[in-house]
Amino acid sequence: MPAIPAYPHDIWTDDVLLDPHPHYRALRELGPVVWLEAHQMYAVPRYAEARAVLRAGDTFCSGQGVGLNDVINGIGAGTTLMSDGKLHDHLRSVIGPGLTPRALRSIRTSVRQLATELVGRLVAQGSFDAVADLARVLPLTVVPDLVGWPAGGREHLLAWAGATFDLLGPLNSRAEHAIPQAQEMMEFAARTAAEGNIQSGGLGDAILDAARRGELPPSQVPPLIIDYLAPSLDTTISAIGSALWLLATNPDQWAALKTDPTLIPNAFNETVRLESPIRAFSRVATTDTELDGYGVPAEARLIVLYASANRDEQVFDRPDDFDVSRNNAAAHLGFGYGAHGCAGQGLARLEGHAVLQALVDQVEAIEPGRPVRALNNVISAWDSLPVTVHPTRQTVVANA
Ligand code: HEM
Repeated sequence: MPAIPAYPHDIWTDDVLLDPHPHYRALRELGPVVWLEAHQMYAVPRYAEARAVLRAGDTFCSGQGVGLNDVINGIGAGTTLMSDGKLHDHLRSVIGPGLTPRALRSIRTSVRQLATELVGRLVAQGSFDAVADLARVLPLTVVPDLVGWPAGGREHLLAWAGATFDLLGPLNSRAEHAIPQAQEMMEFAARTAAEGNIQSGGLGDAILDAARRGELPPSQVPPLIIDYLAPSLDTTISAIGSALWLLATNPDQWAALKTDPTLIPNAFNETVRLESPIRAFSRVATTDTELDGYGVPAEARLIVLYASANRDEQVFDRPDDFDVSRNNAAAHLGFGYGAHGCAGQGLARLEGHAVLQALVDQVEAIEPGRPVRALNNVISAWDSLPVTVHPTRQTVVANA
């Protein structure tokens, strides 16, 4: 078997997080599996092998954690995200049903109305920060109520989730700083479970109900609360912010979307492809195996680089371009793939589509200001995105 190529650079420095794509390109050119010397783990940078790893849950497991260090993999033990096989299927059957498109039908109208009103207020304002004033507002308004979070603790949700995503990366100083907040989130989840303090009718109730019926051991309740808590905000905020940025800086694509709003779902997929909100998670090989002819030893941890796979030139034509009409945008791995494919993507799509529809309806043009990138080990996002929007011109119908 050929020797696995090695890459010397730390791909989690501030500079790389701000502009990772030259490194991802170099990794894709090196091979289907690359040894990352700085992280002492393998990377899977190409689309075909990333998808193959995600599909083969028996060979590349999640149960030893999908983060890149032992601290978060300990904290995350027992979540749906970090479980395998029958246990995973069972946990997913508890958290999944409330997030299907059919289950979300009941909130579809109110989410659209919220987006319409929010965008209406911002259009009247003219200039605003598309992250603080738009991307964060909808998920923070919709998700905590949907899940039924206790009122006390909501103000910490963003900080906790951001810390958890930092800690899902390698154990660098950013991750070490995040440990206390990630632990606070665990304590909050444990307290919420112990007190049964979830608003009735919320999705979280399904977890407590399953425990009451004896279908879940009590120890399993806090990790499932984390499944709803950690991934439901920053990811969607990242996608909505990136969509605004891409549409503001690609006026031809904005014009295409205005002309044909049926492209909105594709535009959302294209955003998740190009700006993959989650850069990478990992898997552990359960046995000696191979990827495209390269040997991978049992117990090896492989970093699946969604953000790199989604720009693989073997799959996506002009991979760095934003193209709302791209015919295979939906093939991206930004929501994962296989048994662990994102359980909340229906909710993310509902929110993202609602914002894009409201913008298409009410905005004529979007002018970008000077943005600031966020620095997070796992989430790729903007901290601030100043924009100025111009309202859609009203059609004046002249009296005959
Ligand atoms: C644009 C927004 C989102 C993106 C890009 C995203 C991305 C992902 C990815 C890549 C995975 C796969 C993890 C793996 O392969 O190990 C995943 C899993 C998951 N996501 Fe999302 N996510 C988003 C929104 C949400 C929302 C709104 C929720 C709501 C609760 C959510 C809940 C979950 C859960 C519970 C899993 C674990 C599924 C399992 O292991 O079976 N996500 N997500």
